[in-house]
Amino acid sequence: MSATSLETASTTAAAEESRFRMGQSRTERVRDRFRQIRKFTNALCGGLEPEDCVVQSMPDVSPTKWHLAHTTWFFETFILKKFLPGYRPEIPEYAYLFNSYYNAAGDMHRRDLRGLISRPTVSEAQRYRASIDSHVDELLSDPDENLLDEIEAILVLGIHHEQQHQELLITDIKHVFAQNPLYPVFRAGRARHSVRAEERTATECRPYQFIDFEETVTAIGHDGDGFAYDNEGPRHQALVPAFSLATRPVTNGEYIAFIEDNGYSRPEFWLSLGWMTVNEQRWNAPLYWIKRDGVWWNFTLSGLCPVDQSEPVTHLSYFEADAYANWAGARLPTEFEWERAALSCPIEGNFVETELFHPAAVAPNAFGAVSAERPEQHRQLLQMFGDVWEWTRSAYSPYPGYRAAPGALGEYNGKFMCNQFVLRGGSCATSSSHIRRSYRNFFQPEKRWQFTGIRLARDPE
Ligand SMILES: [Fe+2]
Repeated sequence: MSATSLETASTTAAAEESRFRMGQSRTERVRDRFRQIRKFTNALCGGLEPEDCVVQSMPDVSPTKWHLAHTTWFFETFILKKFLPGYRPEIPEYAYLFNSYYNAAGDMHRRDLRGLISRPTVSEAQRYRASIDSHVDELLSDPDENLLDEIEAILVLGIHHEQQHQELLITDIKHVFAQNPLYPVFRAGRARHSVRAEERTATECRPYQFIDFEETVTAIGHDGDGFAYDNEGPRHQALVPAFSLATRPVTNGEYIAFIEDNGYSRPEFWLSLGWMTVNEQRWNAPLYWIKRDGVWWNFTLSGLCPVDQSEPVTHLSYFEADAYANWAGARLPTEFEWERAALSCPIEGNFVETELFHPAAVAPNAFGAVSAERPEQHRQLLQMFGDVWEWTRSAYSPYPGYRAAPGALGEYNGKFMCNQFVLRGGSCATSSSHIRRSYRNFFQPEKRWQFTGIRLARDPE
């Protein structure tokens, strides 16, 4: 499939969305959504060769082939085996090979050994996808309302699960390609911007400002309108003391100032665990940055590009985000501050649909001269959604009253509520239909291979 297929898939998606609003039945709506998400995964793989799809460059990374098969296993295990009468898996061993972490669904293959599996081949994995898709179609061809009640919630969960894996597929192939001295290109789109990017290396955008928020008691968590993961609830009241939040994420240019001020070798800015990690890993810049003849270059999904000073900095661990905030005389926001502030922000931005596969530069004049016509431009939160996931200082913990559901699907979120931090807002690899103001992403503090960045917060003076 060619790279333009992704565009076609997006266009088709838009057309399908508009048909949704024109009175489709519930079954048609769910089936179309299912087909659209499955097609988008395939479109993301357009341009990848089979050799690209089997590499596991570190234990956190899964081969593309595994993502293709695992998302399929999810529908086979939780929908077909349970609800399609007489369904028999063609290859029962896939249940072991493509289970990720669901203990209640049976044993599983070791995560760090996924790159050793040459069979099934990539084309066999694609055939597995097609076969499961046609079975799901069959199941949805004429379901009674009671059956639909039962399967719809799981099907929708499977669709969101696949969207999460679409993002992982992108960040994982980036890590795979980054190991290759040929610096392969995933999508050439950004190359079109490379000249502009080079020009912008010398351009700095205007400084960020802080917006003040008064102390308040606010509702936190999903409001019940549409799909949400269980970790976004129960919705509850939380006291959010007064705070200030930066108008935009920290840029590469600002982060270079931290590097040049020897930020990576001054322990006073670092958490103890972070300082240990920096020294062990010999970090001196964000992941994927390379210094050549005194100039920083950045490996992107469109190849190696000069670091653009006006783009949000990304591929940082929590430790680096926290150290930068300390150096800048600020701190990271809590997830409650972030969610409260996001209430006033539209859910729009640079998501996967823009096909940039990279954070977009901050507009050079953002927060510059305030025009008389639009004074609100002066103090507006920008890029809250898309571009980079924003690290918060909140530990990933259950909300008051949270209980994981029983059974395998209860393992989706709850069992990871330990030693991880919450990130908010989505990234350039997230689908716009996947993100919410209440969405809680989470990673361990040393992870850097996702599109993770920084937005600063401050306490009142
Ligand atoms: Fe998964």
